[in-house]
Amino acid sequence: MRVLMSVREWMKTSNMSIKSDGSLLQYCVYFLSLFFLLLSLHTPTFALKKSYVVYLGGHLHDSNSSSVEFNRASDSHYEFLESFLESSSDTAKDSIFYSYTRHINGFAAILEEQVAAEIAKHPNVVSVFENKGKKLQTTRTWGFMGLEDDNEVIPSNSIWNKARFGEDVIIANLDTGVWPESKSFSDEEFGPIPSKWRGICEKGSDLDFHCNRKLIGARYFNKGYGSRLSTPLNSSFNTPRDIEGHGSHTLSTAGGNMVPGVSIFGQGYGTAKGGSPKARVASYKVCWPPVIDGECFDADILAAFDMAIHDGVDILSVSLVGPTFNFLYDSIAIGSFHAAMKGIVVVCSAGNTGPFDATIGNQAPWYITVAASTMDRQFPSYVVLGNNLILKGESLSATRLARKFYPIIKGTDAKLASATNEDAVLCKNGTLDPKKVKGKIVVCQNGQYFRSNEEEQVLKADGAVGMILCNNMIIDNVITAALHVLPTSHISFSDGVQVINYINSSKSPVAYITYPTTKLHIKPAPFMAVFSSKGPNTIVPEILKPDITAPGVLVIAAYTEAEGPTNQGFDYHRVKFKALSGTSMSCPHISGIAGLLKTLYPSWSPAAIKSAIMTTATTFDNEAEPLLNASYSQATPFSYGAGHVQPNNAMDPGLVYDTTIDDYFNCLCVLGINGTQRSMFSNANHHCHKNFSILNLNYPSITVPNLSGSVTIKRTLKNVGPPATYTVHVQNPNGINVAVKPSILEFQHVGEEKKFEVRLKVKKGKGTQSYVFGKMTWSDGKHYVNSPLVVKSIIK
Ligand SMILES: *[C@@H]1O[C@H](CO)[C@@H](O)[C@H](O)[C@H]1NC(C)=O
Ligand SMILES: *[C@@H]1O[C@H](CO)[C@@H](O)[C@H](O)[C@H]1NC(C)=O
Ligand SMILES: *[C@@H]1O[C@H](CO)[C@@H](O)[C@H](O)[C@H]1NC(C)=O
Ligand SMILES: *[C@@H]1O[C@H](CO)[C@@H](O)[C@H](O)[C@H]1NC(C)=O
Ligand SMILES: *[C@@H]1O[C@H](CO)[C@@H](O)[C@H](O)[C@H]1NC(C)=O
Ligand SMILES: *[C@@H]1O[C@H](CO)[C@@H](O)[C@H](O)[C@H]1NC(C)=O
Ligand SMILES: *[C@@H]1O[C@H](CO)[C@@H](O)[C@H](O)[C@H]1NC(C)=O
Repeated sequence: MRVLMSVREWMKTSNMSIKSDGSLLQYCVYFLSLFFLLLSLHTPTFALKKSYVVYLGGHLHDSNSSSVEFNRASDSHYEFLESFLESSSDTAKDSIFYSYTRHINGFAAILEEQVAAEIAKHPNVVSVFENKGKKLQTTRTWGFMGLEDDNEVIPSNSIWNKARFGEDVIIANLDTGVWPESKSFSDEEFGPIPSKWRGICEKGSDLDFHCNRKLIGARYFNKGYGSRLSTPLNSSFNTPRDIEGHGSHTLSTAGGNMVPGVSIFGQGYGTAKGGSPKARVASYKVCWPPVIDGECFDADILAAFDMAIHDGVDILSVSLVGPTFNFLYDSIAIGSFHAAMKGIVVVCSAGNTGPFDATIGNQAPWYITVAASTMDRQFPSYVVLGNNLILKGESLSATRLARKFYPIIKGTDAKLASATNEDAVLCKNGTLDPKKVKGKIVVCQNGQYFRSNEEEQVLKADGAVGMILCNNMIIDNVITAALHVLPTSHISFSDGVQVINYINSSKSPVAYITYPTTKLHIKPAPFMAVFSSKGPNTIVPEILKPDITAPGVLVIAAYTEAEGPTNQGFDYHRVKFKALSGTSMSCPHISGIAGLLKTLYPSWSPAAIKSAIMTTATTFDNEAEPLLNASYSQATPFSYGAGHVQPNNAMDPGLVYDTTIDDYFNCLCVLGINGTQRSMFSNANHHCHKNFSILNLNYPSITVPNLSGSVTIKRTLKNVGPPATYTVHVQNPNGINVAVKPSILEFQHVGEEKKFEVRLKVKKGKGTQSYVFGKMTWSDGKHYVNSPLVVKSIIK
């Protein structure tokens, strides 16, 4: 699922099946599709063929294996399937469209439902699931996080200097592909490709597509997508080229070059750059034009993971989310587990289904899940009313009004007799009387539906001179700067009420909209984006998700030149960079930072890198107040996880909570994957730890979903800094006593590990049945190793 967008695009997504934007419509559509899914399961559909993934765990051969072994693995898949097809006319060779032979063991095939059900019963099979769709959900952001100053001068303590700008780390994404001509991916000043790289540049039918010493690999995976369409894909789909924009944007945010002189119609001027600007990048195209239930399909996602692990990537950035109920049936969870086994850091989006609770996507413990928040840059465009009231909105309109007052009119006051009030208040297409809007600024509500530039185009054609766009939800303080056809200012709900009051009380109301400017140091910042998905975790309630938050509102980065910035057919304008919002945009910020940490500490595990990012995050904003949500109430770890990332602190965390693959295997034991299935993951036979509790997974946050009386939780800290003595400090969650033993830990050398226990006890009569939040900090006076404490106690 796509996790991107300006709020406008966010609206647009709402009319596309299981999209994630938190609107009621979304949920209705979502449940409707579940309903249809159930229906289809209960309808007798003999011989109906569907596209499936058959997951068999891991391979016994190792990563150095030759193509002989890959072919042998592939043959074994044919043989295996053949044994189920004896009675039918199908052949395994015709049915299988992917054989996963490198790290992930399994295949994707078109199968009859009954055959799929039979295969699922085989003891060597971990899971069989339908090949379903998931969705996709600059400049200033790095300065906001302290990597450079306002003038883009990089201070000596910046992680960029210390980590050599992510030199030669290999960052890849699974997305809509890449626009290889973008300057963000040019290879000037890059040396030879790192020798460990085994990837290729798969041009397909696109002979103009090229890789270079910066963009070192590109591949496309479309068979899973094609298997869901009624007509075969033609050769125009055989290319890793990004014709959508999303993939180029996310890849350049993670590892794009420094490209000076970038702006959006003159706004947000600066040097565009990724988190690891000297990284090598690779693109695995798995997302295609949206169809019924998604745009990025499981079978393709698994194939891309298998290949990316083989090719030798260090960091995988995955701005995709789909509904999941079980990790063994989820391509991102499976693929990233295999990646983690090979030491690859996987970073995923939290999803754009906020601001409601328990909407979080990507909930497994073995990757980093990223929420989205604002930065301290705005593009203010003021609304000046005839009564001298000035309201601050935002815009990226490219056209400006002549300096004078214009009459303003509410959409409902310009309503055509044929239109409903509900449609007119939103200024929907064809609901307003052109005679009434001509020469005026029109006041429209920004409803939970897609406001297209095409509609603005209609308003413009009708003769309207400008638009004031008001939020329709009192809880929503997020106003966004979008590319508008008309001079437009997007204002908050409460400012919208002021405009309506003025119109109601004035005989001939007038207004003016100022041309947008770029303003820095906006306060408060950051605060949580209204769309960012929230915990608690619905699959493993003992693991806090999201893990971290990063900038995801109006991020400027590289774009495709195949589409106009408004994604509308009439828009022949082409831009090399574009501002987008979403957890799709926050995710690659963490990927870029993970790339810097990998350059600095090549031997660190993915878990250690995650720990460094989480324990050094801040839960305060630029007014030194606790982080807020989009309605300016205090946010909780369910919105931001450990807090907002602070890259310069992450390079010197002092201590880390490291986790081994064995610990993740233990989680799988608890989650119900049996011994035979487990042993298939790898040649290292894993035995379930007796009595393992996920509460004791060595995670950098602590969550107890169901505390009755008391519980003791175990953790281990590893020293990655100088010798030091750490003392613990705890902020108790309301109604909970927390005791840490021992409360002092002494470390002599690097790599030394020390265990401690955290005892949480409900205070007498204080059980709450709702979640309460606290914090545990280990400090030597120089390093602060923070962990959120999240507890729900039950009344006895
Ligand atoms: C793979 O091969 C390389 C070089 O031939 C060797 O250094 C490395 O140890 C091998 N890895 C494994 C897992 O066998
Ligand atoms: C390929 O298919 C797409 C979508 O179905 C269509 O828009 C395009 O024109 C086709 N291209 C060729 C070369 O046939
Ligand atoms: C708006 O109206 C125009 C002309 O009637 C039509 O072509 C277009 O598809 C409509 N757009 C939307 C978003 O309804
Ligand atoms: C403005 O007037 C309309 C009717 O003319 C009324 O329905 C609405 O409540 C008024 N709005 C405000 C904010 O006073
Ligand atoms: C912010 O938090 C308050 C208090 O928990 C809640 O009522 C409100 O709905 C939240 N707003 C958003 C946009 O999440
Ligand atoms: C398992 O854990 C429970 C509760 O922590 C404990 O009472 C029990 O003795 C443990 N069993 C074993 C075999 O360790
Ligand atoms: C929480 O505890 C209650 C009562 O002990 C139990 O019914 C429920 O299943 C538990 N829920 C979880 C998520 O463990």
